[in-house]
Amino acid sequence: MGRLGSRSRYIPSGDCQRLKRCVAAQSTCKPKAYSFGSALGVDASEPMVQFATKTYGSERLRFRVADIGSAAAAAQIGLTFHRVVSLFCLHWVQNQRAALQNIHDLLVPGGEAILIFIASNKIYPMYEKVAAMPRWKEYMGDWRAFITPYQGVSDPAGEFGRCAQTAGLDVRDVTAPESTFVYRSRAELEAALAAVSPFMMRVPERDRRDFIRDCAQEVIRIVGVDDKGAVTSQYQLIVAHLARRN
Ligand SMILES: C[S@@+](CC[C@H](N)C(=O)[O-])C[C@H]1O[C@@H](n2cnc3c(N)ncnc32)[C@H](O)[C@@H]1O
Repeated sequence: MGRLGSRSRYIPSGDCQRLKRCVAAQSTCKPKAYSFGSALGVDASEPMVQFATKTYGSERLRFRVADIGSAAAAAQIGLTFHRVVSLFCLHWVQNQRAALQNIHDLLVPGGEAILIFIASNKIYPMYEKVAAMPRWKEYMGDWRAFITPYQGVSDPAGEFGRCAQTAGLDVRDVTAPESTFVYRSRAELEAALAAVSPFMMRVPERDRRDFIRDCAQEVIRIVGVDDKGAVTSQYQLIVAHLARRN
């Protein structure tokens, strides 16, 4: 995030979900908001917005519910910003055109956006497998909506960049770096899956442990486990720096 003028605002989108991650994300945002302007955090989840408001809310740091993939989001927010920042959110938005149009409309002319999200992940086929299990299928009927729209796309950065240009955004830089994350044990894998599972809260509390165990089992079937019990997940990001043309 660059320096903002005294009247500047920036908007982290999708920034309120997992509490531990949210604290990390917001604790880096907060000092900058206080030094250089005000910020609005938006998230589609009401409980996350409530948590963020309670934990960090102030006159200059506000949070509200908005679905960045809905055509009406920018108009509903009704403000413009010098910066838009979104971390690990846009892979859950199937309508990328609407999201990029909203980001364009939320920026002042010349305003800039930094967007980082998942382009593809080797473990996503796990959703389809778990969704087919009789015990879990009632909670996962919409599993396709939670798989990044760039999964299986050969040039995700190019496709995303073209979509941004169509929305009136200049592409300063867009890359799709490959990355890996090593879960050192099955317990670590299960904790990570529980932290980001879009389905877990739908499962009755008494069954959640079994649900996550089954998810972890499928991940291990897909990517394997080494002789020390570590599981390596390979994924690709989209990292984009965009600017509104006018
Ligand atoms: C994996 S969390 C990332 C949270 C935070 N940005 C971070 O990096 O720790 C993704 C967040 O995106 C939110 N989200 C998902 N779809 C969204 C949408 N269409 N509009 C706004 N937020 C959305 C979820 O509710 C969730 O809080």
